[in-house]
Amino acid sequence: MSGAALLFWIVLPYVAITTCTVGHVWRWRRDQFGWTSRSSQLMERRLLSVGSPLFHYGAFAAIAGHVLGILVPASWTAWAGVSEEAYHLFSALAGTAAGLAVVAGFLILLYRRLSVPRVSVTTTRVDWGVYALLAITIGLGVLETTGVNLLGGGYDYRATVAVWFRGLFLLDPHPELMVAAPMLYQFHVVAAWLLFALWPFSRLVHAWSYPILYLGRPWILYRGYRRRAPEPVCTRPSQ
Ligand code: HEM
Repeated sequence: MSGAALLFWIVLPYVAITTCTVGHVWRWRRDQFGWTSRSSQLMERRLLSVGSPLFHYGAFAAIAGHVLGILVPASWTAWAGVSEEAYHLFSALAGTAAGLAVVAGFLILLYRRLSVPRVSVTTTRVDWGVYALLAITIGLGVLETTGVNLLGGGYDYRATVAVWFRGLFLLDPHPELMVAAPMLYQFHVVAAWLLFALWPFSRLVHAWSYPILYLGRPWILYRGYRRRAPEPVCTRPSQ
């Protein structure tokens, strides 16, 4: 096995998983009050109200796609009676819809962060790191799903990327499977591990705090009110 294969397909994943896990525990113990999305809703609403749902709902659909395509072995879908062709057609169409929603939402949120001065100044270096890794991971993911699997010749990632990924958690990694995968898939996965390693140190931690309730919650309206002094109660002394 080459040194690069060992580095990218064994060392990097395990270092990222460890950093992500230990980092979350550290962050929770040290900074519970900072465990938020640091929402900038009060600074700008219009773009956020379009970009955020597009990005988040698209991301939920893409996560569901990853669970089905990466965690569920091809033999299970075959056992359930889903043919290889039907799986790939469904995955390419649903993945493209999810990917396009994520890209559209991401571009709106990025434009907002760059063009609204009050939002820009609250953007930290870690935020920009997250944005860069998201751009690379999402961009390459959509190229794989739409470019390769919907419009191109197709690539059976369930025979390589997915088997390697599950092997990591079964403590039986097969780096040669990733070495055999196209570069597009290799870069997508490396960027994803870097994102997971940065996750606990960023505002992405809010994802673990009831994201579904968070998205569906009613608007929160902050109001101040002044309490009136109670009216004096006059009682006539009984005669
Ligand atoms: C190590 C973890 C990951 C693996 C092994 C992985 C693997 C894959 C594979 C194989 C595809 C292509 C599916 C196809 O060709 O049809 C894909 C697509 C995609 N990935 Fe990932 N991915 C990972 C993490 C991520 C992360 C963290 C993000 C988001 C930040 C992401 C976003 C996407 C998107 C948007 C697509 C295209 C839409 C879709 O098919 O769902 N991936 N990923």
